[in-house]
Amino acid sequence: MMEPKIVGFLCNWCSYAGADMAGTSRFSYPPNIRIIRVMCSGRVEPAFILRAFERGADGVLVAGCHPGDCHYRSGNLHAEKRVEKVKRLLDLLGIGSDRLRLEWISAAEGGKFASVVKDFTEKLLSKGPTPISRELEVIPPKESIYDILKRTKAIFCQECGKCSSSCPITRLNPLYSPRLAVEKALMELEDALLTDKCLWSCLTCYLCRLRCPLDIKYDELVQACRAKAASSGIFGDCAHEGMLFSLSRLMANLEVKQSRLSWVPQEAEIAKTGDVLYFVGCLPYFDIVFEDIGVKSTEIAQSMLKIMNAAGMKPVLLEDETCCGHDLLFAGYRRSFEKLAKINVTAIEESGASTVVMTCPECYRTFKVEYAELFGELKFEVLHASEFIMNLINDGKIKFEKKPVKKVSYQDPCRLGRHMGVYDPPRKVVTSIPGLELVEMERSRENALCCGVNAWMGCGIHSKRMQIERLAEAKGTGAELLVTACPKCQIHLNCALSEKLPVEREEVEIEICDLSVLVAKALDLKPRSRGS
Ligand code: FES
Repeated sequence: MMEPKIVGFLCNWCSYAGADMAGTSRFSYPPNIRIIRVMCSGRVEPAFILRAFERGADGVLVAGCHPGDCHYRSGNLHAEKRVEKVKRLLDLLGIGSDRLRLEWISAAEGGKFASVVKDFTEKLLSKGPTPISRELEVIPPKESIYDILKRTKAIFCQECGKCSSSCPITRLNPLYSPRLAVEKALMELEDALLTDKCLWSCLTCYLCRLRCPLDIKYDELVQACRAKAASSGIFGDCAHEGMLFSLSRLMANLEVKQSRLSWVPQEAEIAKTGDVLYFVGCLPYFDIVFEDIGVKSTEIAQSMLKIMNAAGMKPVLLEDETCCGHDLLFAGYRRSFEKLAKINVTAIEESGASTVVMTCPECYRTFKVEYAELFGELKFEVLHASEFIMNLINDGKIKFEKKPVKKVSYQDPCRLGRHMGVYDPPRKVVTSIPGLELVEMERSRENALCCGVNAWMGCGIHSKRMQIERLAEAKGTGAELLVTACPKCQIHLNCALSEKLPVEREEVEIEICDLSVLVAKALDLKPRSRGS
């Protein structure tokens, strides 16, 4: 039997000293623990723990000073909360929360350290190795910069500067310029281009692509250059220390058996095989990762089920569905992306579904564009929830209750709007609900402002400024509610509202709601007569 590999994050002041004592005294412990010394257990980010599992750890031990003894007052209490959060993520992932252990070990407790490691080793031994296979995360792209320039038509750039003048990031950060990035590529300054932090600042929001008179595919150029940079070990700044990338990469292991359907309400009617499949995406994970800002992404999924059931459908939900891989692809992790794509397409095909509905525009784009490019024409139709609900309304399959008049505005997600051209269905859905009056923001449809973050990268001061600007714009319409059709837009805008604001709260505070949740709340669920 293998010897389990344990990674131990030990606080410098207590547990590390305890381990030191165990190693130099009569206490002995198995040599299968790799110790990482941290200043405080509160310094151990969830991303560090997930990364250890990704790197092949069978178990992770986080150890710090006893409560009340933390040298930074409450670091260990933060650690306790974080470990709890990661335990829930590990259960969702199917890796198991019992592979993560938190212990309080003082500098004098060498014996305790030794017995904790021994006991943990025995427990891991009985569980067996983790189902994670460690593989190269990036595939060195075959394309040269010249090939990329040709494929994306950037080789024809006339340097008119329309891209930079329309870019929402350039407006806030003059150091960032799409035109300059293209210029570097044209001048064959590959190193300068790939090592420039600006490469990772792009929101791939598609605004420059719509403005470019030569239809240069700047978003594709960025994606290809990031893959090239990643293959040389250059990565951008990830939000949440890359925790969400780790989750996606862990899902790409075929042997990982997730337990992702606990959000499904008991009364919901679902099936294992059938015509219509609802692709949930990472919503159950978001609930845990973003619980501190009150995110309830699975409410979107529950609403979608309610709508489908109200229309007389019993949708298929997949136990082994994974992240679509959108963020990994845009961050340069092509290998994991391809693995996720294969798992999802195979599982959907096996379910026999002919229509796949998604509430996330990133999943929608990934299936329609990237999966189609990878596998050829898909054997099923892909619909965004807004298109699907619009069809249900047109066919008279769902009806709404009469509600008091309310003004609402709508945030166009970049992936749904500019990338895929889906502008009308969400608006038609909103205006079909009695009592709702849609008031457009100044920048809407093709001109809509991005929610400020893409692919969990580069979430910083500029993102926050964009979010505040967008919320103020929504509030300025007089709307009481801002409707989104993207779980991530909702997370990012709510995140801005959860922080200290640079403006008066009443200037930007507005209720934010997903389209599916709005529809589910408006449904008339009274029993209908036969044939109605
Ligand atoms: Fe030891 Fe904070 S210093 S846990």
